[in-house]
Amino acid sequence: MIKRLLLASCSFALLAGATAHAADDADTRATKVVGQMTPDEKISLVHGIMAIKFFPGMVIPPEATIGAGFFPGVARVGVPAIRETDASLGVAYVGGARHDGATALPSSLATASTWNPEMAYRGGAVAGQEAWRIGFNVLLGGGVDLARDPRNGRNFEYLGEDPLLAGTLAGEAIRGTQDQHVVSTIKHYAMNDEETGRTFLNAKISEAGARESDLLAFEIAIEHGHPGSVMCSYNQVNGVYACENDWLLNGVLKHDWSYPGWVMSDWGAVHSVGAALNGLDQESGEQIDDHVYFNKPLAAKVQADPAYAKRLDDMDHRIVRSLYAVGAVDNPPQKTPLDLAAGKAAAQTVEEEGIVLLRNEGGLLPLLVNAKSIAVIGGHADMGVISGGGSSQVAPPGGPSVTDTLGGEGSLPSMLKAMYMPSAPLKAIRAATTAAVSYDSGRYPSRAAANAAKADVAIVFVTQWMTEAYDAPDLSLPSGQDALIEAVAAANPHTIVVLETGGPVLMPWLDKVGAVVEAWYPGIGGAEAITNVLFGKVDPSGHLPLTFPASIEQTPRPVLPGADLPEKTHFDVDYVEGSDVGYRWFAKMGAKPLFPFGFGLSYTHFAYSGLTVARGASPKVSFTVQNTGSVAGADVPQVYLLAEPHRSQQRLIGFQRVTLNPGESRKVEVSIDPRLIADWDEAGHRWRVDAGDYKIAVGASASDLSLTGDLKASSAVVKP
Ligand code: BGC
Repeated sequence: MIKRLLLASCSFALLAGATAHAADDADTRATKVVGQMTPDEKISLVHGIMAIKFFPGMVIPPEATIGAGFFPGVARVGVPAIRETDASLGVAYVGGARHDGATALPSSLATASTWNPEMAYRGGAVAGQEAWRIGFNVLLGGGVDLARDPRNGRNFEYLGEDPLLAGTLAGEAIRGTQDQHVVSTIKHYAMNDEETGRTFLNAKISEAGARESDLLAFEIAIEHGHPGSVMCSYNQVNGVYACENDWLLNGVLKHDWSYPGWVMSDWGAVHSVGAALNGLDQESGEQIDDHVYFNKPLAAKVQADPAYAKRLDDMDHRIVRSLYAVGAVDNPPQKTPLDLAAGKAAAQTVEEEGIVLLRNEGGLLPLLVNAKSIAVIGGHADMGVISGGGSSQVAPPGGPSVTDTLGGEGSLPSMLKAMYMPSAPLKAIRAATTAAVSYDSGRYPSRAAANAAKADVAIVFVTQWMTEAYDAPDLSLPSGQDALIEAVAAANPHTIVVLETGGPVLMPWLDKVGAVVEAWYPGIGGAEAITNVLFGKVDPSGHLPLTFPASIEQTPRPVLPGADLPEKTHFDVDYVEGSDVGYRWFAKMGAKPLFPFGFGLSYTHFAYSGLTVARGASPKVSFTVQNTGSVAGADVPQVYLLAEPHRSQQRLIGFQRVTLNPGESRKVEVSIDPRLIADWDEAGHRWRVDAGDYKIAVGASASDLSLTGDLKASSAVVKP
């Protein structure tokens, strides 16, 4: 592991060095610089354009880098232009405005499925390095909203449903990016957990519910990764827009968490100049707002009101100190060719660790290299692997191998274009075997079934395309693909389904197929990664970062809020589950999911023994993991809290990825962050651990807990 970590950092180490020094004196340098700025210069840093020619009449300054955002900077005092690009899955193509291409990483859900902070770091480093080489100094990557609804169109950009897992991995991705001297932006703060009505919906949630879930994910990620900026979200939280929400911005973020960086708005999320007093530091994509609030209106307020003048200095200070802190001033971007081979290798490794084996009856997988015939069916597997849509969309150099225009519906047709990365599973499978490999598009289930019947094994590739701005109406596989699988499975008992989905789907055919592999959106190394897992070159080791429900009725909101309302009708989303998101809700309701959070099979087996729980300010849980099978593999034992003194409540409180040879054992020790066993005490404004008996369990998923132990805790409080 350590060796791999070293190798991973070596390939992206060329820029490391000056960060620590830069972070030390970032505040001192920012104070000096902001002190020299004129009122106009101060205003120029806090509002900026979306730097694409999408908007009629808009002039893009020639010095801008085409991308999500541009601010000219203040060269006179050494503040560079701010050049922003999306996002977490690589440098985005901005709706076609950039043609140069970049490395397409697997979706963030694939990264989350690795449960491996090193993989998150590696992806963040690739995106950061490529951004730097193209000329950007701010990456809008670091999505960490929790998956509260399996239909959320952006779940693929986020890291699942648990605050510890999502927060830890987001923090590492941010570190990876910022080690390349590019500011990383954690987003969308906060409770931006569905896309339907995202620009106005009102998320209703108790303070404790928010602090113990979505906000905890942000808190952990910010502590680990120290992102230079935070992007506030479009939606309202408890009746106030997130980008002018004093409680979220001034209270939680800047006061309680002492966050020193800057808060930028999402594109079109500003509603008033007063947002400045409530904690917003910068207006982004100003053409999209109904007015530009942070130029003339803010300048007028600054002239008239000392509170605004003080805030403007603070807003500028926060921006400039973050640029210094990550080394963006001392190590400005240098236009350099991208190392696409290194990017692809990283993308493939992340995907290999992130693929989740969900079913494997009778050891159908790994495939025998000497199988005589294989029928590959569907999913454009002859051309590539699908990716998710919206602002995070990355286009590879040379463009996608397939573009499926699904437009027409909805108000954002440019978002409705599915793109496939040129990484064709059919080609990779053919290269891996001597078997005769046929291909059928799957357009006619009867023909696909006839082809499957002629082969030893059938591999059906199915896709569920998801995108920013739209949620899925339900959890079915679209375009008749369920019927395709049914037909193929009826024709061939050795049917393997490879899912390329943006989140959980239902599997009405599950009992009829031999194996199911969840490959998420696989990225540019997807074909090789999937093939290596299918043929056992790589042991599958991914674990689900979110629950796959057996039906939508099991989730807190079977009817998607807003889906049944005319467009633009304001509505509330009542987060009745509070912090019991995903598996916690299932545990509370006693519901059995299709596949539980944390689940993932391997080609080997693991056993856990010897649980000990040591009390203390950060309790320590230790146990032994053994590989009891016959091949090497990686496991992710998970530690859960099952009950507190006054109630039962399941929560992930620790995890560790362990790679073991056959027969090998390792003792695992996990320190528990006290906030994970505490409750948020609203009246006391603190985390409170009640004295008494806590039940702890270790297992292979949220529903498979083989070891249990007790923790007798003393009462404790943790200040935010
Ligand atoms: C998205 C953000 C993105 C921004 C800039 C918004 O619509 O919500 O995630 O960073 O656009 O492209």
